[in-house]
Amino acid sequence: MKVLSVVGARPNFPKLAALNESFKPYPEIKHVIVHTGQHYDFTMSEQFFQDLKIPSPTHHLGIGSGSHAEQVGKTMMALEPVFLQERPDWIVVVGDVNATASSAMVAKKIGMRLAHVEAGLRSFDWGMPEEVNRVVTDRLSDLLLVSDPSGLDNLRAEGQEESRVHYVGNVMIDTLLRSVELAKGRPTLDEYGIEPGNYVIVTMHRPSNVDDPKKLVGWMNVLDNLAQTIPVVLPLHPRTKAKLDAAGFSPKSKNMKLGAQAGYLDMVGLLKNAKLVLTDSGGIQEETTALGIPCLTLRDNTERPITISEGTNTLVGSDPSKLAGFLDAAFNNPVSEKRPKYWDGHAADRITKILLENNDLAPRQK
Ligand code: UD1
Repeated sequence: MKVLSVVGARPNFPKLAALNESFKPYPEIKHVIVHTGQHYDFTMSEQFFQDLKIPSPTHHLGIGSGSHAEQVGKTMMALEPVFLQERPDWIVVVGDVNATASSAMVAKKIGMRLAHVEAGLRSFDWGMPEEVNRVVTDRLSDLLLVSDPSGLDNLRAEGQEESRVHYVGNVMIDTLLRSVELAKGRPTLDEYGIEPGNYVIVTMHRPSNVDDPKKLVGWMNVLDNLAQTIPVVLPLHPRTKAKLDAAGFSPKSKNMKLGAQAGYLDMVGLLKNAKLVLTDSGGIQEETTALGIPCLTLRDNTERPITISEGTNTLVGSDPSKLAGFLDAAFNNPVSEKRPKYWDGHAADRITKILLENNDLAPRQK
């Protein structure tokens, strides 16, 4: 069975790593990796491949940055000849980035079978480019592999055939659990000059938080204020760094530590030892739940509701002035010890079995 996985952006790589590991015991699986090149800086891409020991991609498309239409259009044009050359039994896509939806459209237009890992997530917010990608990808997928139980309800409500939908758990947590030990030996905390259990880590890159300079500086001022009481660490996504530089922001507190984008293992170490995490990332809401670290999400909605109902996550909303009202509870209340069903390190093993069992599945007709 030939499986072709397509990845493009940072959050895809830990998911790919889990799948690649799970394919290894099966000599009958040939795994072809395609990297679209949506992310290309060392810390956004290559470092993940090194940290997670993922083999170099067989095909690297070098697409790079651009508007959504430009990125999706170029990716589709570059993927089509690769899919036709490789003729895989399964095309596997993960998550909700532009590489995911581009692959889905190309795969179905040439009649190839598509499996979507992390299917069914919905923020019900069309303002998020990822929501478009999720809906398009799920609508076209032959197998829908679900990580959050809400995904089952969402796919049912959209009329998906039950036989194509499988709750498998969370592949990103497979890789996280495997990486916690590896992250221990790294000097990341020393480099930032911070102590375990005594800092807040912040990640922020959503267009809705960083593209408007007034809003971005609003967030930074609130965080700068928080840094008067506890160190605040911000490894900056390139999008956020560019916007901050353009806005001319510089922090007042020396405990506000703006750093370069962290690689995967450095980030795992930073999350695991934090007192509190503030984020607008989807994946970090899940990682903090799995690690039992309190998380405040700087968004109005989440496509990952299990992290609230059975995890450590709380939605703050997108107004910086509201953050202060959540801090006391986040610092002092005990967090949930529960971990959602099948976030157990074996989600990718379940996926591998499902792909093998369904290798004669007819592509969907409607
Ligand atoms: C993308 C995903 C988002 C994911 C995020 C994780 C989509 C629609 N969005 O958003 O879901 O949460 O990745 O990082 O697919 N840039 C660099 N170097 C890089 C990559 C990007 O400098 O290696 C800069 C460029 O200026 C680029 C900007 O960051 O224009 C945004 O990159 P892009 O891939 O378009 O979107 P992300 O915001 O990273």
